[in-house]
This record gives sequence, C-alpha cells and structure tokens, in this order.
Amino acid sequence: MLLHLNLGVYLMPIDLKAVTRKPPETVRFYVKRFDPETGRVWWQVYEVKTYRGMTILDALLKIKSEIDHSLSFRYSCRMGVCGSCGVVVNGEPRLACQTQVAEKATVSKPEIRVEPLYNFIVLRDLITDFTEFFEKHRRIKPYIIRRDLGEREKPTLEYSQSPEELSQYYEYSLCIMCGLCDASCPVYASDKLFLGPQALAQAYRFIADTRDEMWALRLEELDKEGSTYKCHFAASCSYVCPKVVDPAAAIQRLRSILFKYKLRLYRKKVSNVVPPMEVKAKPTPLPPEATVVERVSLEKLEEEKPLIPIDKLIE
Ligand code: FES
Repeated sequence: MLLHLNLGVYLMPIDLKAVTRKPPETVRFYVKRFDPETGRVWWQVYEVKTYRGMTILDALLKIKSEIDHSLSFRYSCRMGVCGSCGVVVNGEPRLACQTQVAEKATVSKPEIRVEPLYNFIVLRDLITDFTEFFEKHRRIKPYIIRRDLGEREKPTLEYSQSPEELSQYYEYSLCIMCGLCDASCPVYASDKLFLGPQALAQAYRFIADTRDEMWALRLEELDKEGSTYKCHFAASCSYVCPKVVDPAAAIQRLRSILFKYKLRLYRKKVSNVVPPMEVKAKPTPLPPEATVVERVSLEKLEEEKPLIPIDKLIE
C-alpha cells in the first residue's frame, strides 16, 4: 500500500506496509565514509542481520555497536521529531529513523546505500555541517516581531487569531529543520546565495502569521536576495519533506505576496491584542478518589497501628 503524503502535485510515496514485512535476513549496507584527517572518501560494506521493523538508524546503530565503532552519524530522538538523522538512502534524502530497511531492500536486491546529505559540507562519515543552513534560517528572522515593545517584552494580553488565520501557516510551522528539502534542491546545489526551501518556507510561515507585524521587513530582505525568484519549482523539496510541509507551495505563495507588495497591493491583517478569554464553564469537580480528605491529622495517621503487624509482614 502506498500513501501519498503531500497535498501538492509532487508526492512522496511511503510504503506503509514495509513495517509489517520482514526484510531479507541479511542486508548489505554500502555506507559512504569520509575521514577529515586524511581527506579519504570511500564506500564501506557491512553485512547486517535484520529483523522486522528495523529502521536504517537501527541498522547504523547495530553496525556501530557490533561491527565498526568508528562509524559516525547523528541522531537523537529516534522518532522523526528532532530532525538530526537525515541521510541519503538509495539516492533519496530520508530520515534514518523513519525509513524501514524492508522498504529499501528486497530479496532480489538485499542492498542499501547510505550517504551523507547532498549540498552540505561533510564533517565525517554521515555527519554534515549545518552552520550555513542555520545561518540562512536566522536571516529570515524566524520569530514573531511586534511594534509594541512593551507588550512584546512583558506580555499582559493575548493576540487574537481565528482558526482560519492559523490554517494559513500551520502546515509550515511543522518544519523540524532536518535539511532534507535543501539536500534535494537543484538550485540550492548550484547557487550558494539561494536561501533554500527551508528558510523560504519559514519566511512564508512568519509573513502569513497574523500576529507578526514586520512582514515588510522580511519582504524587503527577500526582494534583495532575489531568492524567491531563483526557485525553479522542481518541487523535490516537497517530495522529500517528512513532515508534509510543502516548501514548494510556500515559495509560490511568497512570490505572489512579493509581487503584490512591489505593486503596493499587498494588505495584511494583523492580530489585535485582547484580554484573555473569559472562562465561563464551571470548574470540573475532581473524581472522588482524587478528592482531598479534609481534617486528617498526619500525626495521628503515623501513630495508627498497621492492620498487619510488621513482624508478620517480614515472615
Ligand atoms: Fe530524531 Fe530521526 S533521530 S528525527
């Protein structure tokens, strides 16, 4: 069964049944390695005994603990949340912890190739340098900026936002900054000045947020960079995104906003600050077992003799 994740035109087929299938008993892993001390790059082969439900990250951990302690890779949460285990599996940027061995290795071809993310500087083996990635992310000012400094520093009220306004950017707020989109982007590969799909999708996320007031500042920056116009709409970023963020759509929306902004036609609704909503519902009573029994003297309780004498309990 194939599930098409993204809602756009370019969809990533995920083999959901892979988790229920047993992979070939032994899978040959070709891991691309790099030694920064000598500058040597080579493919190393490891034979790994597999089991049902094994992910690429499980296989790498097994290699590291049982076969080769020198293999380096990055991971943290093991559940597709931290975004640190991105690698290229059989030519496709994927999260190692979310990719089943059974999805990539078949009985007729029990082999898997694992490489570091494309378009990133490799530090060692599968570990890549994210300095530039975070630098580009910082450039789009990935936070809400308000004019009322007092309220920003010491908030006393709330920003009102309707569910419809939230839905304008919610999808884009799911980014886990794994870098798979940038690793798959042909423009990012060839133009170092291009901000990349991750940063641009996040620029859209904050421009579309009605709580943010500094959209003009971001649009000016994006116009200077020319980044939004460099996108060729290959849409490989949306294809590989493990969180259905669809950066390709965000860049197209950004283009349209920028175009209207240049013609002075762009209008944005900004949230008002409002007092917190009144809670009208009565507080729910605690269940009886959690109710605090009043007037119970702790001293008296300590003095009480246990129902079963201690010496009997020890017997
Ligand atoms: Fe956190 Fe894979 S280890 S996303």
